[in-house]
Amino acid sequence: MTTSPLSPVPLESRAALVSGATTWTTGEAPGLRALHLADGPHGIRSQGAEGDSLGIGNSRPAVCFPPAVGLGATWNPALARRVGEALGDEAAGLGVDVILGPGLNIKRSPLGGRNFEYLSEDPHVSGVLAAELVRGIQSRGVAATPKHFAVNNQETDRMRVSATVSERALREIYLPAFEYVVRQAHPWALMSAYNRINGVFASEHPWLLTDLLRGEWGFDGLVMSDWGAVDDPGAALAAGLDLEMPPSGRTDRVLAALGAGTLPEAALDAAVGRLHTLADRTAAPRGRRDVAEAEAVALLAAREAITLLHNDGTLPLAPTSRLLVVGEFARTPRFQGGGSSRVNPTRVMSALDALRDLHDGAVEFEAGFTLRGDADDSLADAAVSRAGESDVVVLFLGLADNAESEGFDRTTLALPSEQIDLLHRLSGTGRPLVVVLSNGGVVEVPWRDTANALVEGWLLGQAGGRALAEVLTGATNPSGRLAETIPVRLEDTPSFATFPGRDGEVIYGEDIYVGYRSYDTFAREVAYPFGHGLSYTTFAYEEAAVSSSGENAWRVRVTVRNTGDRAGSEVVQLYVAPPATAPGPVTRPAHELRGFAKILLAPGETGAVTIDIGPRDLAFWNARASRWQIDPGTYVLEVGASSRDIRLRMDVRSPGDGQVDPLRLDSTLGEWAQHPVTAPMVRAMRDGLPAELQDTAPELAAMAQATPVMKLTTWGLGVTEEMVRDVVARTIPGSSE
Ligand code: BGC
Repeated sequence: MTTSPLSPVPLESRAALVSGATTWTTGEAPGLRALHLADGPHGIRSQGAEGDSLGIGNSRPAVCFPPAVGLGATWNPALARRVGEALGDEAAGLGVDVILGPGLNIKRSPLGGRNFEYLSEDPHVSGVLAAELVRGIQSRGVAATPKHFAVNNQETDRMRVSATVSERALREIYLPAFEYVVRQAHPWALMSAYNRINGVFASEHPWLLTDLLRGEWGFDGLVMSDWGAVDDPGAALAAGLDLEMPPSGRTDRVLAALGAGTLPEAALDAAVGRLHTLADRTAAPRGRRDVAEAEAVALLAAREAITLLHNDGTLPLAPTSRLLVVGEFARTPRFQGGGSSRVNPTRVMSALDALRDLHDGAVEFEAGFTLRGDADDSLADAAVSRAGESDVVVLFLGLADNAESEGFDRTTLALPSEQIDLLHRLSGTGRPLVVVLSNGGVVEVPWRDTANALVEGWLLGQAGGRALAEVLTGATNPSGRLAETIPVRLEDTPSFATFPGRDGEVIYGEDIYVGYRSYDTFAREVAYPFGHGLSYTTFAYEEAAVSSSGENAWRVRVTVRNTGDRAGSEVVQLYVAPPATAPGPVTRPAHELRGFAKILLAPGETGAVTIDIGPRDLAFWNARASRWQIDPGTYVLEVGASSRDIRLRMDVRSPGDGQVDPLRLDSTLGEWAQHPVTAPMVRAMRDGLPAELQDTAPELAAMAQATPVMKLTTWGLGVTEEMVRDVVARTIPGSSE
């Protein structure tokens, strides 16, 4: 029946291969070895052969790099590459063929329980950093598996919920990071998401898995399901899924779909073929495990993730100052999130121990609160009573493991009340107060002015304690930047009214206005804007020069000078603001991040970065015509240190993309008046009218403009349906006018 080279393998065996063999391995066949898969995104969680069937037990020790929330804050693609390489080395050394990561879903709401596993609220930051992770991992002959494709932006009801989302929001917000990674880094595998998208399971979505992913983007790897995401194995394979994980034992369902003709045998063979390709691609791992080297990379990444949000000069700490360190997080660090990504680290040092190592002055400690969240006034009393003996209080606050994890979303952005009470009591002692946060999802900071300095320590992986101590003491100059906005209140967040939905549906009502695209367009106050982060030095943006590099393409060169007295890194950000348009059917965000570059400068040093802008950076998704569209006009290239700290602006003129949408049968007179084919006709028609009708009142003219031309056919004006059809046909590109 088929001439496929796989056909000598019995149909039943082929149908069995497209579901795994065990929780962490794929099946074997003559000429096809079993592949070992392991989470995850920020460290290898490999249980080896002795693993339990659910895959939740303890895994072999492996280096825990900063989770995506930390890596995202580094804004450093070269560093992401190094982390990827180290992950690949770790995997190769542990016998892992396929890493289940990186995670690159967009942080739609700060309440997302799994936001710590995702990089940013912005698709450009997510795509660029994830692409480097993929390149790094695969340079070691190990496959990466970007996940969860797609629109997996919440944990609530994640296995059933349907995201109702516009095509434009898909194209501009939820898909571009995946698109970038697929086109630029060519991952060998991809993981489909649990949820539905506009009613169709992502794992059974023919448009998503085949038309878009393979057809448009050219993906040539293997698509596996998230663990347990497949509802109907036959439908999933027919849609473009290649491997169901973990095995469900439903080979009979695959055979039934083949028998019924709903699953072509060619689709099954294509899936088996992709398993072969994946096995070939990972056949000769080039990675070499060096735990000490990987631990050093984990420290580098943790250092660059730390984001200094506010500082009145209290940081870095004076070398011999007497410190009172308060907060259980200083002694018992929270450095990664809960769920499938949890790594069994090779070693962990607390910030408290690291401070005792690095700081010359006395370092005393009080727990202040427990991580269980139960009120214990005696702990708080003890901390407050000792504050007076210190020169500075360093208070570690954050979210404990039970506050955020894979599997559920948060319901508040507030820190636990006992922590806030403690903060206010410590502030009342009059001692300078430095607050250090440990959290995977952003928290509200209404108390921020109470602190003399505020350090966002995210989740930093196993080396986080050391990195935090270095930043506090000044051994490291912080250079993290916010990859997600810190809002003033939960109620300000763009998805507040619809997250996480109900009755199996979540409506993405904010559409493309996610994160700073919303706050900046609607001028809403934020606590700290997207892209923000301070340094112990200062930077001057001296000059930006723009030169054309092709049609709708420019190269921007920005010169930055370190004006302080310490070496430090600046993240130069480039936003594009669209031409001003009147409110209408297509509104656009005030500006969108289209490029960035991180540069390390010695004191007084001047350096330059270049950032390229291409046609896609100007475009929006025209849903009616299903294409990217570039309007002609003046675009502003904004160069700055955050989305709200734009230092230099340059205008560039775009001729547009020259594409004109064809008219439709229901197009209005106004649309006819603007279309190049019909504009002369409308003008001639107007000129032919009696003078008194040509001078119609503006409100009547506006009414006429909004009228579909087809309606005129019934008004006795001599316009016939046939004429309209004929003219509309002539506006279709390629038709002879
Ligand atoms: C998670 C995936 C993970 C898989 C295997 C799922 O629950 O969503 O991200 O890779 O489990 O552990």
